Amino acid sequence: MNNNKMKIVETLQDLKITLPGLNRPLGFVPTMGYLHEGHLSLVRRAKKECTSVVVSIFTNPTQFAPDEDFENYPRDIKRDLDMLNSEGTQLVWIPTAESMYPENYQTWVDVEQVTKLLEGRYRPDHFRGVTTVVSKLFNAVQPDKAYFGQKDAQQAIVIEQMVRDLNYQIDIVVCPIIRESDGLAMSSRNTFLSNPERQAAVSLSQGLLMAETAYQKGERMADNLRQIVSDRIQAEPFTDLQYISCADPSSLQELSGKVDDCLISLAVYVGNTRLIDNVICRENSS
Ligand code: PAJ
Repeated sequence: MNNNKMKIVETLQDLKITLPGLNRPLGFVPTMGYLHEGHLSLVRRAKKECTSVVVSIFTNPTQFAPDEDFENYPRDIKRDLDMLNSEGTQLVWIPTAESMYPENYQTWVDVEQVTKLLEGRYRPDHFRGVTTVVSKLFNAVQPDKAYFGQKDAQQAIVIEQMVRDLNYQIDIVVCPIIRESDGLAMSSRNTFLSNPERQAAVSLSQGLLMAETAYQKGERMADNLRQIVSDRIQAEPFTDLQYISCADPSSLQELSGKVDDCLISLAVYVGNTRLIDNVICRENSS
């Protein structure tokens, strides 16, 4: 158990008063709340590597398109705070939308190229919202290290690009995907799945695992790897594939023909819920 009381602040002013009291190195975990083991794995990693851990909870409106699920995005602040308290988090920042985006707000951070691929093809303004809010959070918290999940593989790459381009002195640590026992990648959105949809959703991770196994056994053709994933998912009811990509893990450029290392990633609607998942296949990983 942890005995130090976790501090909770809302305003930028209270954050600025509280931050100097925290010992460095300072680890930062930005989240949109409705926390699960995936988020907590980032907090635990930050705790292991840093003296103090700050977590933000902010469902960022600017990364949702008008037809997306911002209004319905699951929220349970009390539960989130209990979980963060048990992990020994020092400080939780819960900014309001009005303070992050006051009237007449007009400044955006836009990573130009890598945001146009994969998710960017289907969610055109999404990463502009992510990089803008993460930049504002970084400016306010000024952490030494910030923790992101491989679950959002492209987001991690976009943030790394932003940190290089804008000279942030922050180490970006990308942590592995945490999965349910049957393989489904943990996500706040999994709560939207009905029982039969939840059963069908396991096909995403199973398809990726089948492609990874084929890769390990020598399959190197991009088309075949994509096909293995798509066959498994399309065998299930309720699934509607948006994309399956086999791309270069750094540039995210789509690959064709024979591949070396690759990121196989996907977005699939299961019922009305849009889920993403991915796996990285490497030539010399054991
Ligand atoms: P959110 O979806 O709440 O995720 C917060 C962090 O947790 C992200 O870095 C995400 O990749 C990580 N995460 C989510 N599910 C995970 C899982 N199953 N395993 C490992 N890590 C997981 O991503 C966002 O919020 C927002 O875009 C944010 C960065 C906070 C900006 O608004």
